[in-house]
Amino acid sequence: MDLVKRPRRLRMDGRVRDMIRETRITKKSLIYPIFVEEGEGIIREIPTMPGQKRYSPDTLPRALEEAAEQGIQNIMFFGIPKHKDECGSQAYCDHGIIQEAMRAGKKYVPELLYIGDVCMCEYTSHGHCGIIKGDSVDNDKTVPLLAKTAVSQVAAGADMVAPSDMMDGRVAAIRSALDEAGYIDTPIMSYAAKYASAFYGPFRDAAGSDNFKGNRKTYQMDWHNRREALKEVDTDLEEGADIIMVKPALSYLDIIREVRDRVNVPVAAYSVSGEYAMIKAAGAQGMVDETAIIAETTTGIYRAGAEILITYFAKEIAQMIDEGRIG
Ligand code: PBG
Repeated sequence: MDLVKRPRRLRMDGRVRDMIRETRITKKSLIYPIFVEEGEGIIREIPTMPGQKRYSPDTLPRALEEAAEQGIQNIMFFGIPKHKDECGSQAYCDHGIIQEAMRAGKKYVPELLYIGDVCMCEYTSHGHCGIIKGDSVDNDKTVPLLAKTAVSQVAAGADMVAPSDMMDGRVAAIRSALDEAGYIDTPIMSYAAKYASAFYGPFRDAAGSDNFKGNRKTYQMDWHNRREALKEVDTDLEEGADIIMVKPALSYLDIIREVRDRVNVPVAAYSVSGEYAMIKAAGAQGMVDETAIIAETTTGIYRAGAEILITYFAKEIAQMIDEGRIG
């Protein structure tokens, strides 16, 4: 055949394939979420997320060291308190579980970057992400508590805060509360486009939010919508967000791409508990090659435009990067 273009030329040699890769993944862009439970001596398997565990502040440092040894640099904490109440007071308590986790992390593994998830659902008796009024969450009563939560996390050592509640005006309120407390250099990574997703199912179990009934449709976004995600992103940027997040990841690759093309800030994607659980379950059943699926889905999220990935597979991905399988 008389062909001018032979795309296969660049696929013949593995070294050339490596050379021309369009998507590069670095360990430094991974964020590993860890669940921290109030108590002592806890290393508890999370049944809905095989391979993930809950730790108490005393068992946590070993898990952090392990992550650091694998080259992971960024950690996000979710706290599980002993006592929950109507107003989620353990979220903004100076000695709450997430604050204690921050202190333990900073003390024993100071080289890691610590990000606090700022929300109330793990701390409220009803499991909603804020204060309940009638049959919905009261936005304006909730926002000051989120700001208080963010400040208390930073006071305990958090290097960054990530509000995941989806209340209106929370980024502005958190920014001004942090500034007022003197934390002008602490960045906010906002869960800007966060959908009301069934993919959070396993997380509810992991975070002890199994008390939660109903849904979050009055604050998280309807997954039929694309423009609304852009509105949320624009709003959070106007309010001072430094990094924008899209969540979940795999069913929202179009949103990741569109946000990436539109804004001038770093874009993060959160590959959530349900995405993790599905891959784990199918892998354990021998239905798919788990490692290969992790590699391909992860690369897909970066190819869509994410520059930061929050993932429970962080350690596996770090190992694959070391082995040259991806990135
Ligand atoms: C808290 C929060 C949730 C997740 C992250 N932060 C749960 C929810 O919104 O219901 C989900 C993370 C995951 O599924 O891995 N609001």
